[in-house]
Amino acid sequence: MTFPSTFLFGSATAAYQIEGAAREDGRGPSIWDTFSRTPGRVLNGDTGDVADDHYHRLEEDLDLIAELGLDAYRFSIAWPRIVPQGIGAVNQKGIDFYSRLVDGLLARGVQPVATLYHWDLPQPLQDAGGWLSRTTAEAFADYAAVVADALGDRVHTWTTLNEPWCSAYLGYGSGAHAPGLRGREEPLVAVHHLNLAHGLGIQAMRPLVTNAGLFSVTHNLHVFRPDGDTGDLARAKVESLANDAFLGPMLDGRYTDRLVVTTASVTDWAFVRDGDLDHIRQPLDVLGVNYYSTSRVRLWDGTGEKEAADGHQPGSGSAWPGAEDVEFLRQPGPYTEMGWNIEPAGLADLLTGLHQAYPELPLMVTENGAAFADEVVDGAVHDTDRIDYVHRHLRAVLDAIDAGVDVRGYFLWSLMDNFEWARGYSKRFGIVHVDYDTLRRTPKDSARWYSSVIRSRALPA
Ligand code: NOJ
Repeated sequence: MTFPSTFLFGSATAAYQIEGAAREDGRGPSIWDTFSRTPGRVLNGDTGDVADDHYHRLEEDLDLIAELGLDAYRFSIAWPRIVPQGIGAVNQKGIDFYSRLVDGLLARGVQPVATLYHWDLPQPLQDAGGWLSRTTAEAFADYAAVVADALGDRVHTWTTLNEPWCSAYLGYGSGAHAPGLRGREEPLVAVHHLNLAHGLGIQAMRPLVTNAGLFSVTHNLHVFRPDGDTGDLARAKVESLANDAFLGPMLDGRYTDRLVVTTASVTDWAFVRDGDLDHIRQPLDVLGVNYYSTSRVRLWDGTGEKEAADGHQPGSGSAWPGAEDVEFLRQPGPYTEMGWNIEPAGLADLLTGLHQAYPELPLMVTENGAAFADEVVDGAVHDTDRIDYVHRHLRAVLDAIDAGVDVRGYFLWSLMDNFEWARGYSKRFGIVHVDYDTLRRTPKDSARWYSSVIRSRALPA
């Protein structure tokens, strides 16, 4: 019933979603600056220009983190603050900001968990091809070395990439995320160069990390539920694209046969060069897993309208190159404000499945949480639905631990309401409410509830 004493309870954010100060202290433009300013791409034309103004409110936010009693805080470092042009000159002011953040966490007894790439690619690299170009993977390694050189004595866990699935398939396939391209082979080229960036990045950092810092990567591994006679076939296709495409090279040093078969009409993978897979497969200390919901799939029989509960409507690009015949069915509810179904068992299934496949690899839930239509009433937010969501998912984590899975921590997404990518500020994931007019922070009931869980290291009955 109780969590291990070394279990890390944390909360997570990402640079572009909270920092603001988009043009300050030498920060260069990123693909999300460009994308969010392109009409029609982000709901209500929202941008991260100001966001939560975290860049200017660092001390206040550090105090908030300390008051919540978090063991660890997961944040991301903005590449365009560190190397504004993507390659070349380093911006000391960018380094100083994250150095203050890390020191401020440590001074408050909170372990820093740093992600190097949470989607904000420097725009000049995009202009040169972005993740379609190997150069971007090499530039990432240089940037990673700069960061490790500056912070490699103080960070608890390093995460190379956050959800490369989104970067590749939403950025270069469906077009829902920056840079908003709609290709078919392109997402797979991006997959490979993201994988390469991960491997080259760890190789570059390893000699510069002087504490006992851990190496990791975070994936949004998909949990698919097969539907009917064709469900297993459909699942094999989408699972190969969503999960094998990253775990295969990173953990086993290969792209799986079923991925090659699924994508046979899309690519011959000729962009994978000799030696790449050896670079990509780096020993990892822990695997980060982001989990929100599940998907139900079957093969489309070609009649009637194809269900697209994955959000990809006909006419838009596909996030599933080679698996366009897979139909995503609407899951039974309940749902969060994102329209995602709530299924805590999916998290337990994911963790136990990974443990079976990779028994030696510790796991960490680097994101889990929910958007709900929060309202501030008399200075309080009674978000019982979020408490219930987190409670049930923490229970699933405990179930997995009881079943023998080595789960090292849980990071609630998110510390505070923020820029939810293509949905702008319309979706609130925070345990702390942010008033976007005044930028005032108000802890929701879920924040207090989470604090008490952390204090007792157990779930209430
Ligand atoms: C995953 C992403 O890492 C994060 O940036 C996003 O806000 C949440 N999921 C919620 O969609």
